[in-house]
Amino acid sequence: MSALHLLVLALHNVNRWLVVIGGAWLIAASASQAFAPATARARGSLRRPWQLYVGSLHLQVVLGVLLLLISPVADAAWSDLGAAMRVRQLRFFVLEHPAVMVLGLVIAQRGSVRARHILEGTRAARISLLHAALSLLLILTAVPWPFRDAVARGWWPARW
Ligand code: HEM
Repeated sequence: MSALHLLVLALHNVNRWLVVIGGAWLIAASASQAFAPATARARGSLRRPWQLYVGSLHLQVVLGVLLLLISPVADAAWSDLGAAMRVRQLRFFVLEHPAVMVLGLVIAQRGSVRARHILEGTRAARISLLHAALSLLLILTAVPWPFRDAVARGWWPARW
């Protein structure tokens, strides 16, 4: 493995936690605004959790696309894409994982733009909650968590 590949892979691994934390923060903040009684409603802005979630997700997609260009796993898949589709690990990393992640990003991006244009607090919070929950749920199903059999990867980079 090249040093560049190891570096990008490690960044992609670590940045996943920013995506997860950003998404969880956004869901908690928008849920507390969406369902709090009007009198007790926290008027805190959802701007910062949205920025962390969408910003880290964009970075993750850029690092992921870079991995598709330099990773030995992707290399092995590109050399015979038809055959790669029959190998669980290759199909996951070059097709399923990127496709679901892009869908998660599109939903998050749409939610952040819609929420920004809605002035009424409760409605903006509900739109944020719906989009953040759907987007994070999709993303969580496509992460190669250590407990996923054939495609399992570490909680943290193996080597720096
Ligand atoms: C379009 C978006 C994405 C693409 C194209 C992409 C691509 C890839 C590829 C090709 C690998 C395997 C690299 C290798 O082993 O050399 C990988 C691993 C991984 N991806 Fe993604 N990814 C994307 C988004 C995401 C997102 C949003 C997350 C989590 C929030 C994520 C989490 C991971 C993790 C945890 C690994 C394993 C890292 C390791 O082995 O240390 N990816 N990704």
